[in-house]
Amino acid sequence: MERQILKDRVAIVTGASRGLGEGIAKAFAREGATVALFSRDIQRLQQHEKDIKDLGQKAVAFKVDVADVGQVNQTVEEVLKLFGRVDILVNNAGIAPSMPFVEMPDEVRDSVIDVNLKGVWNCTKAVLPSMIKHKYGKIINVSSVTGPMTSSKGMTVYSASKGAVSGFTRSLALEMAEHGINVNAICPGSFDTPMMRSVAKSRGWDSEDDYIRELGKEIPLGRLGTIEEMADLTVFLASDSSKYITGVEIVIDGGNIIQEHKG
Ligand SMILES: NC(=O)c1ccc[n+]([C@@H]2O[C@H](COP(=O)([O-])OP(=O)(O)OC[C@H]3O[C@@H](n4cnc5c(N)ncnc54)[C@H](O)[C@@H]3O)[C@@H](O)[C@H]2O)c1
Repeated sequence: MERQILKDRVAIVTGASRGLGEGIAKAFAREGATVALFSRDIQRLQQHEKDIKDLGQKAVAFKVDVADVGQVNQTVEEVLKLFGRVDILVNNAGIAPSMPFVEMPDEVRDSVIDVNLKGVWNCTKAVLPSMIKHKYGKIINVSSVTGPMTSSKGMTVYSASKGAVSGFTRSLALEMAEHGINVNAICPGSFDTPMMRSVAKSRGWDSEDDYIRELGKEIPLGRLGTIEEMADLTVFLASDSSKYITGVEIVIDGGNIIQEHKG
């Protein structure tokens, strides 16, 4: 068997029930990590746990809402009891409702901030004592190009939340450098996931496949990113191959944000 670059590492991946988080969790397990799968959808998580174990790899599913600090603290404690340490945290759970700013109820604003910003905050705070104790850690925040670099109509609160994650990443990277902990963000462009497909109807498309295909035509590389491509980058940031990288945002978007004119 080829060398597994996350062998014996313990990782938490949030939002692991589907989309990018599911792909990242499965890639980590293939690379030898023991993976704690966090999400609210325990049924899907248990199926992923089984799939991973059937391949001889290691995973445990945990039902947890990252916006709930009590649940996060309790679940991270369980992970620590089971495995003794957490080496890698991928803050991937996120939501992306699209709505004009003037129509957006404060409750929608709060729900996005609660998951996309406070969720990152809660999980990071819960794992850091173990990482500091072991003088080792990799924190990877799944941000977005939307907010830190670009935006679209309807995305005010999503953009605000992801922009906040950028600032959080930089500041924490400086604080954690002396503890041997790398803190980085990934800024995906458009990836073919359930989240991306869910906006097809609201953007006037009957077919999700047609929407995804058309969207891809505007991207220099001619298509959306795949979950595997996102997982490859996340594995790299979680591994010791990236040990001199901290405090950065890595864009993975098929060249989309560098265009002056689309198409
Ligand atoms: N798909 C894209 O093109 C794209 C682009 C840029 C950024 N992102 C970011 O990537 C991340 C994953 O996106 P995706 O496309 O895979 O989305 P998705 O909707 O397909 O999956 C999101 C996951 O997060 C989980 N989740 C949501 N709220 C949660 C909560 N409160 N507690 C625990 N889990 C929760 C969901 O259950 C699901 O497992 C998000 O942070 C998103 O903002 C995605």
